[in-house]
Amino acid sequence: MAAEWTPTSWRKKKTLQQPSYPDPGRLDVVMEELAHLPPLVTSWEIERLKSQLAEAARGERFLLQGGDCAESFADCTSSAIASKLKILLQMSLVLTHGLRRRIIRVGRFAGQYAKPRSEDQETRGGETLPSYRGDVVNRAPFTRDDRTPNPDLLLRGYERAALTINFIRSLIDGGFADLHHPEYWDLDWVQHSPLADEYHRIVGAIGDSLSFMEQLGGQAIADASRVDYFTSHEGLLLVYEQAQTRRVPHRSGWYNLSTHYPWIGLRTAQPDGAHVEFFRGLANPIGVKVGPGTSPETLVELAEILDPGREPGRLTFIHRFGHQRIAEGLPVLLDAMRRAERRVLWVCDPMHGNTEATASGLKTRRFDNIKSELEQAFEIHADAGSHLGGVHFELTGENVTECVGGARGLTEEDLRRSYHTQVDPRLNYEQALEMALLISRRAAQVPRQSLRVAV
Ligand code: PEP
Ligand code: CO
Repeated sequence: MAAEWTPTSWRKKKTLQQPSYPDPGRLDVVMEELAHLPPLVTSWEIERLKSQLAEAARGERFLLQGGDCAESFADCTSSAIASKLKILLQMSLVLTHGLRRRIIRVGRFAGQYAKPRSEDQETRGGETLPSYRGDVVNRAPFTRDDRTPNPDLLLRGYERAALTINFIRSLIDGGFADLHHPEYWDLDWVQHSPLADEYHRIVGAIGDSLSFMEQLGGQAIADASRVDYFTSHEGLLLVYEQAQTRRVPHRSGWYNLSTHYPWIGLRTAQPDGAHVEFFRGLANPIGVKVGPGTSPETLVELAEILDPGREPGRLTFIHRFGHQRIAEGLPVLLDAMRRAERRVLWVCDPMHGNTEATASGLKTRRFDNIKSELEQAFEIHADAGSHLGGVHFELTGENVTECVGGARGLTEEDLRRSYHTQVDPRLNYEQALEMALLISRRAAQVPRQSLRVAV
């Protein structure tokens, strides 16, 4: 029998990756204020997403989750938000076409402000200061003032998240995502891209099917003028998550109303740790990152703690092994879950196991390695009688140069040109669309039975 859960029961467990606030009194005041502000999302939306994720776990839908590694307060601008929305829409259209499944669109946005770090402190030129842990905790410049964790940034983060969500909702309600008007979300670059023809062919095919269906039915398909968009972030900073975890009228349970779909990062996914304790009491659908260090026993234990009721749509495992380790690591995990007779949604994050440093010390990821992990993931799932129900990318709608490779063959020298990420390298818009095209082409060309490799 599990011990009683409360929104603060995590405080009795080992808590990793949290800042140390020099002014706990101010932190209490801020948390109280946060707890009284209106929520960012509602339990209706959360439950709708959960039922869609249950469909994805059964193979009826496919999850597309993507956005920045770390959102920054400075990038809370109309153009950056609209570009992210556009690239996710374009990718989802391509995926719908190739996979013949409805796509669940989830942004890594409106709250992706806290980052795990390998060291608590950073030393430069003899001075040691707290590490930068994301804009909701402290600021990046290396001064004592900037690096001191500041509780007021929790409020600034909440407000930025609210602004982001408000803009996304307005764009969508206003018709921005209308499938009858893909030109609304065409990014300018598409015309000049080597991928342009293929993309426009797909858009054209979808437009044709839509008008055919509408002529047949004699009316517009309302579903085509509006899409759902959900938000997610790593639920790392537990004071922020706790402050917005509430009961709602007419439903049982506690909802984290800061986001629809929080996940636990790889570094904080210990079954006896504070993050797992906190997440087990939430009614939201939740994700957990798993990878080379996750044993099959731990995986099943996590599933038992986080999804004791085997609720459809409740639990997602996001695997991130790296292209060299997935063939060895993933089959064992799939087998453990099969033997435990547990169904979860499996998602591949082909980014975080494939990070490397260039000779000059810049963090990057190679397009071909990301692609290889993704292709192996599809094959390994099919081979195990499971299926990959979604993908998780770090991407941006901007023309950055952070990952090497792709249709334009970006090289290490190109990285200097437009390298902006706060933490991890992201796919730029063109590389992101190319990933969607690859998945889609693969689904169109390869019959399911032949997706077998020796693993
Ligand atoms: C992330 O998603 O940015 C991240 C830190 O991932 P992971 O927990 O898988 O390392
Ligand atoms: Co990252």
